[in-house]
Amino acid sequence: MTILGIETSCDETAAAVVRRPAGGGRGEILSNAVFSQIEAHAPFGGVVPEIAARAHVEHLDGLIARALRDAGTDFAGVDGIAATAGPGLIGGVIVGLMTAKGIAAARGLPFIAVNHLEGHALTARLTDDLPFPYLLLLVSGGHSQLLVVEGVGRYRRLGTTIDDAVGEAFDKVAKLMGLGYPGGPAVERIAREGDGARFALPRPMLGREGCDFSFSGLKTAVRQLAEAHAPLSEEDKADIAAAFQIAVADVLSDRCENAMAAANDIIPPGHRRLVVAGGVAANMVLRERLMVSAHAFGYEFVVPPLKLCTDNGAMIAWAGAERMALGLTDPIDTGPRARWPLDPDAAPARGAGVKA
Ligand code: KG4
Ligand code: ZN
Repeated sequence: MTILGIETSCDETAAAVVRRPAGGGRGEILSNAVFSQIEAHAPFGGVVPEIAARAHVEHLDGLIARALRDAGTDFAGVDGIAATAGPGLIGGVIVGLMTAKGIAAARGLPFIAVNHLEGHALTARLTDDLPFPYLLLLVSGGHSQLLVVEGVGRYRRLGTTIDDAVGEAFDKVAKLMGLGYPGGPAVERIAREGDGARFALPRPMLGREGCDFSFSGLKTAVRQLAEAHAPLSEEDKADIAAAFQIAVADVLSDRCENAMAAANDIIPPGHRRLVVAGGVAANMVLRERLMVSAHAFGYEFVVPPLKLCTDNGAMIAWAGAERMALGLTDPIDTGPRARWPLDPDAAPARGAGVKA
């Protein structure tokens, strides 16, 4: 089964062609075209929804043509069209969704409306053929969640952020130190030169029951620290970045350890794997800490290759393929959704209404 996947929910315009073997097993990425809009948003220090939507309109057709060309195929060689239908910036989601529906209608192809989070959640099956169930830490600019991935469309949420997402916290810390956007890579880079022990920062939720996260208090503490030491020298910035990164690592590993303890009742031995996905999974300090935690709990540690951790079309195509293989296609009048939790039955986390 060969699926064209389209992703437009944030600041990456992406299209990819992915093949799923008939009997199951890992997928084959035939093409994976991504256009990053970072340059267009950088002057504003973050993603501007209106600019993102316009850039998607401008670039999507060309990216789809490129994805098909790179895959050595055309619409006749595709069995279905998948597109992100949410959650995300609604203007961008509409661009991808309408384009996908147009192609599906014109070519008489099945259409699959993919939850962007499900795309991240199933990537480890595309790359590693991971069997269900497994534990997932999803950490990106828009999302921070701990989930047991039980099957396609079946998620049990163990924890979520009650305020900022992890990547968002990295971006805000970078912005207040004038490091530019996106902030995560910049913070990680300067933190290498820093002394993480010079400043004491809070570790929100550490040692508490459950698996929820909170990062806004940490971000505020960083702002106060930066203001108290203004103007910041390069050394100050590096020390603050290092202290912030260690605080995040402490919190994430603590939350993951609680999640692994809780998941032991749900995930049988032999299936105990901690998968980390989302752009923040690029961070080597966090990865190393989470790997240590995973191994201490008898969990295998799995991180998909970086270009599949950040937003891309292959993850949407793959989620579409997994759904279509189960007969789960969608009507052409399926609407875009700004919010779309993976586990709608989960009790809403306090203050977490905006972080689906
Ligand atoms: O998954 P992604 O590409 O897009 C979203 O769905 O949000 O994640 C982007 C986020 C940004 O907040 C970025 O600062 C963060 O991932 N990020 C990092 C690193 N690389 C990207 N955060 C920490 N360390 C990194 N090396
Ligand atoms: Zn994402």
